[in-house]
Amino acid sequence: MNLEKVVDDKINELLMKIDKQKLPKHIAIIMDGNGRWAIKRGLPRSFGHKQGVNVLKKILKASKNLGCKVITVYAFSTENWSRPIKEVEFLINLFSEVLKKEIKEIHEESTKIKFIGDLTPFPKNLREIISSSESLTKNNNEFLFNVCVNYGGRQEIVKVAKELALKSSAGEIKPSEINEELFNSELLTGGIKDPELLIRTSGEKRISNFLLWQLAYSEIYISDVLWPEFNEHEFFKAIIDYQSRNRRFGGIESLPTGSFEDSQYS
Ligand code: IPE
Ligand code: IPE
Ligand code: MG
Repeated sequence: MNLEKVVDDKINELLMKIDKQKLPKHIAIIMDGNGRWAIKRGLPRSFGHKQGVNVLKKILKASKNLGCKVITVYAFSTENWSRPIKEVEFLINLFSEVLKKEIKEIHEESTKIKFIGDLTPFPKNLREIISSSESLTKNNNEFLFNVCVNYGGRQEIVKVAKELALKSSAGEIKPSEINEELFNSELLTGGIKDPELLIRTSGEKRISNFLLWQLAYSEIYISDVLWPEFNEHEFFKAIIDYQSRNRRFGGIESLPTGSFEDSQYS
C-alpha cells in the first residue's frame, strides 16, 4: 500500500467537505507544544521549534490555496522572555534565519508579511531584517501573514489607551469621540477584520494573552496535536468544525423564526 497516497486521499476527502463559500478569511493560531514534542523524542526543545517552522510553512500554503486571506500566528509572547536565556536566544536567531531564507518566496507568492508586537528589545539584525521584509512585501495583496512577536494582548490594549489619552490631551480628539471603531483602528493589528477562527494546538485551553480584543467573538478550536505534528489534515478538520458552528453573536439565529412563544417570557 502506498502510504503517501492514503494520506493524500484522506486530505482530499476532508477538502471536499469544506464549503468554500463559508471559509474563515482570517485565522489566528497559537502554535503550541514545540517543547513537549521534542522532549517526547528525547531531543532538545530547540528541535521542536525548528520542526514547528516546517509546519507553519505547510499551513500557510494550505490556507492560501484554500482561499483564506489572513493568518496571524503567535510566535513569541511578552511572557516568553521568562524562559531560559538559551531558549530565548535560540528563538530570536531562528526568527532571523527563517526570515532571511524564506522572504524571497513569501514575496513571490504576493504575501504581505507584518510583525506585530514591541520589536524594540530585539537585536538590531533581527529588527533590520523585519523592517526590510515588511517594506519589500508592503504592496502585496494576495495574502496577509501576521507574525506576533513580543506580543501581549494586555500590553496592546494599554498602548492604545495611552495613545488615545495623549491625542485627547493634545486636543486632537475629544474623550467623547473614543469608541470601539477608533480603539480598533489604533490596535497593532491596524483595524483588519477580527479572526473568525482561533486554533490552539497541544490541547491547552487558554488564550495566553493573545489578541484579547480581536478574539472577542472568534470561534475557538483546540487541537490535541502538538504543533510540530500539526498538518493539513488537522487544519482542515479545524475548518470543518468551524463551519459546523452556529455563530450567534449574542442573538438567537439558531432558532427558527417564531419558535419562541411569548408565554415563555412570563
Ligand atoms: C510554542 O511551543 C512555541 C513558543 C512559545 C515559542 P512551546 O515552546 O510553548 O512548547 P511547549 O508548550 O513547552 O511544549
Ligand atoms: C503561547 O504559548 C505563546 C506562543 C505560542 C508563542 P505558551 O506556551 O507560552 O503559553 P502558556 O505558558 O502555556 O500559557
Ligand atoms: Mg507552550
